[in-house]
Amino acid sequence: MMKVLKHLTPLACAVALTNPGCAGAQDMTGPQEAEVAKADPATDAAGSIDWEKEFGVEKKVPDPVTGELPVAPYETSPANAGAKPFQHSNMAQAFGGQAGIRAIVNRFVELNTTDPRIDAIFRNQDIVRLRRTLFEQFCYLLDAGCAYTGRDMKSAHKDLGVTRADLNALVENLQKAMREAEVPFAAQNRFLAKLAPMDKDVVTR
Ligand code: HEM
Repeated sequence: MMKVLKHLTPLACAVALTNPGCAGAQDMTGPQEAEVAKADPATDAAGSIDWEKEFGVEKKVPDPVTGELPVAPYETSPANAGAKPFQHSNMAQAFGGQAGIRAIVNRFVELNTTDPRIDAIFRNQDIVRLRRTLFEQFCYLLDAGCAYTGRDMKSAHKDLGVTRADLNALVENLQKAMREAEVPFAAQNRFLAKLAPMDKDVVTR
């Protein structure tokens, strides 16, 4: 959504220099126009144009409780997690139970969103929701007592343009997060092997 907005803002500014949201609008105007640019949008006809509405940009309102943005409706299913959970294994324990998994997911998200190789893909995405759904997915797959309520891997990644190199960077970040949490090496590798077949739904170019 913000991606669209980013493209629209300069366009809206070019169309109407009076748009109060246009950074630097005054720089581009003469003395008269500058006056108009400063006019109160509430009383100025041009300034009161809702450009987002004009261009059909839908405003997403965060949920007041969770802070998550709404997503298009989808059917919830455990199959959306992309793999079957471990069973009768000590994987949940190796990851430190739900508290350990949450800490690993939070660190993993932090690494991805600050990694110059892939941070652009995470920009303007709903990181609050990502933290929750990733936690659910990991917790569900590791048989640590959670249900996965997120989207399937294909739908969630279809518009992101993820490459094999992006995936490799993300896997390195997950390895780092697991290593820092002292997850035993064998358990790290078993978990990575569980996620590996999802590459066909995540890598799109
Ligand atoms: C096997 C590897 C991967 C797994 C298991 C995975 C898992 C997930 C999950 C569970 C979600 C949340 C779905 C939802 O909100 O309903 C998600 C969303 C997302 N993933 Fe991945 N992911 C993988 C690879 C990647 C890669 C390589 C990137 C980019 C480098 C990436 C970037 C994102 C982004 C930006 C979102 C948010 C999309 C949105 O909210 O529309 N993922 N992923």
